[in-house]
Amino acid sequence: MIKKVKLPNEKLSGIKMGGGIRDVLDLATKIEKSGRTIYHLEIGRPDFDSPQTAKDAAIKAIQDGFVHYADMRGVEELRVTLSKKLARDNKIDVSPADILITVGAAAALSTAAITILNRGDEVIVPVPCFLSYPALCEMTGAKAVKLPCRFENGFLLDPDDLEAAVTDKTRMLILNSPNNPSGAVLRKDVIERIAEIAIKHDLIVVSDECYERFLYAGEHISIGSLPGMGERTITVGAASKTYSMTGWRVGYMAMPDWVTPHANRTHLFLNTSPTTFAQYGYENALRNAEPDVVRMIKEYRERRDLVIGYLRDMPQFDIVVPDGAFYVFPRVAAGAQKTDVELCSYIMEEAGVAIVPGEAFETPGFVRIAYCKQKDYLTSAMECMKKALKKL
Ligand SMILES: Cc1ncc(COP(=O)(O)O)c(C=O)c1O
Repeated sequence: MIKKVKLPNEKLSGIKMGGGIRDVLDLATKIEKSGRTIYHLEIGRPDFDSPQTAKDAAIKAIQDGFVHYADMRGVEELRVTLSKKLARDNKIDVSPADILITVGAAAALSTAAITILNRGDEVIVPVPCFLSYPALCEMTGAKAVKLPCRFENGFLLDPDDLEAAVTDKTRMLILNSPNNPSGAVLRKDVIERIAEIAIKHDLIVVSDECYERFLYAGEHISIGSLPGMGERTITVGAASKTYSMTGWRVGYMAMPDWVTPHANRTHLFLNTSPTTFAQYGYENALRNAEPDVVRMIKEYRERRDLVIGYLRDMPQFDIVVPDGAFYVFPRVAAGAQKTDVELCSYIMEEAGVAIVPGEAFETPGFVRIAYCKQKDYLTSAMECMKKALKKL
């Protein structure tokens, strides 16, 4: 038995494994094994097929022999197409040379963290947040400073709170709009103030814009497009959500040129490059799959309205109507007399519906419902939930 290697190592030891998600999934598996149906509203995995045009392009790439390593920065055609997309849709002026193709948005985030952060640095992470952000900071030895975004404020980051959280150790701010899990979309005036603060305190901003297309109100503004922000913003995106291509594992980071050689090096040693033919599929989707995206947005909006309609009639929850992404993040009402974990367990056992406690997103007292499922499925799940909650 090995004695000198002890796991988890010191960097992993402080990292939670997804908070209550584990409990929910374990319970769901146990119940499913007993033959009962469980409605899965816990996972943020789009249920649409990937666009046919992307599949055709990837198949053609395989047939054409694109089965070897690509340029480690990513296939050039894809970086050129992304540079045009970023200029047109995000108003970000970035050369293809400063775009790095990564293994999903996940690898763009880890590459940014490993490249930039030093032990002892502080990273401001507005919460609720995607659960990887604090973990990634801690894996580099940096400290994630969690900054609550209040329900009463529609889960929008309050720039005054942000400024108050900055110390002389703060190096980075991670933004995610539209947000997972709250669905909040940062307003222009708020983004402008955030940019002012980032410039004043010399912060680098990692802007995770994975859900940029799933917007039901407001507009998507990339902070990297604001004056003075190009030189300090890393914009992260992916094929995963926009084109329902989560399994293809392609994403990107667009960055200032002073970051590029260092991020490229991190990426080389971590991943070398993402799957070559998958990159051709993404490149094609960016040019040809707009009709698929439009169809998905319409469908997600209807699904959101359906779920919200049910939640409004459930006294156990208070809601902010989400303007983007495909999640609702209701607050457990005081009258429910249960914690988020207890309520999720009850809903699972009594209604057969799996949802995630807010503690998994650094925000206890809430639950996350992912509505990336067909409407009839959502209706059945919400009916079961309604019936179960009536018994309380
Ligand atoms: C906010 C956010 N960022 C990044 C990711 C990871 O995306 P990818 O599958 O492209 O790695 C997710 C996935 O759920 C997410 O919700």
